[in-house]
Amino acid sequence: MNFKVPRGTQDILPQDSWKWHKVEQIISDVCRAYRYSEIRTPIFEQTELFQRTVGDATDIVQKEMYTFEDRGKRSMTLRPEGTAPVVRSFVENKMHGIPDQPVKLYYVGPMFRYERQQAGRYRQFVQFGVEAIGSDNPMIDAEVIALALDVYRRAGLKDLKLVINSLGDRASRAKHREALVAHFEPRIEEFCSDCQTRLHQNPLRILDCKKDHEHPLMVTAPKLTDYLSDENAAYFEAVQNYLAALNISFEIDPNLVRGLDYYNHTAFEIMSTSEGFGAITTLCGGGRYDGMTEEIGGPNAPGIGFAMSIERLLLAMEAENVTFENDELLDVYVATLGEEAEKFGFVLTQQLRAANIHTDTDFLQRKMKGQMKTADRQQARFVIVIGETEVEQQVVQLKNMATGEQREVAVSEVVTTIQQLMK
Ligand code: HAM
Repeated sequence: MNFKVPRGTQDILPQDSWKWHKVEQIISDVCRAYRYSEIRTPIFEQTELFQRTVGDATDIVQKEMYTFEDRGKRSMTLRPEGTAPVVRSFVENKMHGIPDQPVKLYYVGPMFRYERQQAGRYRQFVQFGVEAIGSDNPMIDAEVIALALDVYRRAGLKDLKLVINSLGDRASRAKHREALVAHFEPRIEEFCSDCQTRLHQNPLRILDCKKDHEHPLMVTAPKLTDYLSDENAAYFEAVQNYLAALNISFEIDPNLVRGLDYYNHTAFEIMSTSEGFGAITTLCGGGRYDGMTEEIGGPNAPGIGFAMSIERLLLAMEAENVTFENDELLDVYVATLGEEAEKFGFVLTQQLRAANIHTDTDFLQRKMKGQMKTADRQQARFVIVIGETEVEQQVVQLKNMATGEQREVAVSEVVTTIQQLMK
């Protein structure tokens, strides 16, 4: 029997994993600069957590969750997203009591959604996300957006578009919802079956429909922005002013609704505008979710955050033809000839590694030519050659692969010599 990686998942192989390290490094650097600390939550949670927060009527909860009953007959779900778990942890660990608010958290980890596989859409993907909980100052909305953009910029991306919208508060949304139902109801049979179900469950999602987006009623649909209270509108304007103060350009899209129910006020997405990018252009999505802490039994603590998948970030880099410099290369390859030299070289290899010099040697007793080929393929900066004579005289031949220069070095001086040459 042949086994295959499950549909919608992928192995990250050595030729690519170094790029992931680079992205993870950028993420931790940027988060440290913005003072967001890492949080790690479990990969599965009680199913009800997602039903309550992401929302019963959403595609994620209805169609995409990996839900199972554990041996204790509890319904568990592999996390489809990171916000609900982080907010659960915030409440459970009483983080609202921490003196320094807001609490600024970030996470990197796998999420699971049973979606149709296509380029940029997987069933297991890695999200980097941040959540700032405990402030309803519009300045933090701008901070969170700036942080996301900084990560992309440090990865070398330029073809980016920020789209923002305000979903208002609950009251504004309820009014808008009524207007939407009234708008679509008379002609709802012209829409797809999903939209017909959405009409009373979640009419906002009709605006997001991939099938019916060209229906004339879509264009004339009541816009959320027209239903914002004065307070909501002022909040949205303040967010825009802070973005402008940071020279961050953006577009307002009144139809940006997001696929999760917990949002209010600010919602945003960052898209790739690169020609080479596939059909799915959204790289990152986020927004404000005031009320979520209370929804799950905690005190009032307004929050905002975003998440982006690392897979899509790497795809966007490919589309823009930007690459990282691979610095996970080999410093020294130790090539040996004969049994004595092999052992001698093995010990030296360990000494070099102890000095944090990235070193490898041959384990297949190959001829010198084969060993040199490996050193070449791995782009070793130096090759050490050891034969019987070298063992006898306690020296090695050290070759600088960039210059071709070769010299004899006493074994006791190999480490310091290489350290100096590497500077
Ligand atoms: P989301 O829009 O569902 O929001 O996902 C955020 C990002 O995760 C997407 O923009 C995309 O980069 C990535 N993503 C989602 N699904 C997939 C998939 N199937 N394959 C690859 N990448 C995917 C959330 O998850 C919210 N928790 C974001 C948030 C945080 N809002 C507030 N705080």
